[in-house]
Amino acid sequence: AMSDYLWFEGIPFPIIEYEKEIIEKSCDKFVFRDEDTVILTYPKSGTNWMKDIVCLIQTKGDPTWIQSVPIWDRSLWLESQRGYQKLINKEGPRLITCHLPFHLFPKSFFSSKAKIIYVIRNPRDVLVSGYFFWSKTKLVKIPESLTTYFEWFIKGNVVFGSWFEHTRAWLSMRKRDNFLLLSYEDIKKDTKSTIKKICDFLGKKLEPDELDMVLKYSSFQAMKENKMSNFSLINEVVAPNGLDLLRKGTTGDWKNHFTVAQAEAFDKVFQEKMAGFPPGLFPWE
Ligand code: A3P
Repeated sequence: AMSDYLWFEGIPFPIIEYEKEIIEKSCDKFVFRDEDTVILTYPKSGTNWMKDIVCLIQTKGDPTWIQSVPIWDRSLWLESQRGYQKLINKEGPRLITCHLPFHLFPKSFFSSKAKIIYVIRNPRDVLVSGYFFWSKTKLVKIPESLTTYFEWFIKGNVVFGSWFEHTRAWLSMRKRDNFLLLSYEDIKKDTKSTIKKICDFLGKKLEPDELDMVLKYSSFQAMKENKMSNFSLINEVVAPNGLDLLRKGTTGDWKNHFTVAQAEAFDKVFQEKMAGFPPGLFPWE
């Protein structure tokens, strides 16, 4: 049913924490500043991991901030009720999180020097991660099984719309200087090099011991134990039975959940929808 999501311009949004007027304002009126940094993702691609990494880079590896302020307040969600209002009133450089598809993203970005860190992840893992995550929340329509969710995902009938469309459109930005493309898979494979890449992109210089601290406190285990990062503080209206953001933290978990037929069907859709991009852009393929 339509009421299972909040629909805006053909895109399904969560029904809690989101409001049409705010989404509209964030798309049309939000003014970027040159010092802003945006973490942009399709949900379940490693958004929160990137948040903790960037926060730790800002504090040069000191964990005080990430251990004392909830993750959603450290990097505010542009298109959400809570985030938008705080962001427009915030002075100085802002760390912003955003899941908006490219065509809804505030146009003021293009006349600013604000920076985007865009994280992609194997959509098969995004699908599995999303299935387990959203099913525990009251935010969206709940699928009765992974098979159902698989079908919705392929069609783009999931929160924030089609992965394929979201990714295709955002990837068109990948050659810009103020756009850093990263993948969950590469971050996982070599977290230290990725952190260095992010430092270069943001113009931050870390000493080797500071870099080691960023690595240490952004690890899966450290984040899982940090109540400010692991979503254990989530509002019970959103998740009455609790919510575990740090579920598995691996690549290729889809292999434990897809049937052979689903794997084949997904390959076909991926090849069709992502045709035209250079091989190598998607490290999981
Ligand atoms: P899984 O559900 O596959 O475990 P998002 O932040 O975009 O919602 O993404 C959540 C996914 O990122 C989850 O994937 C979660 O485990 C993973 N993740 C979060 N922090 C991580 C970390 N420090 N290392 C590895 N994976 C992490």
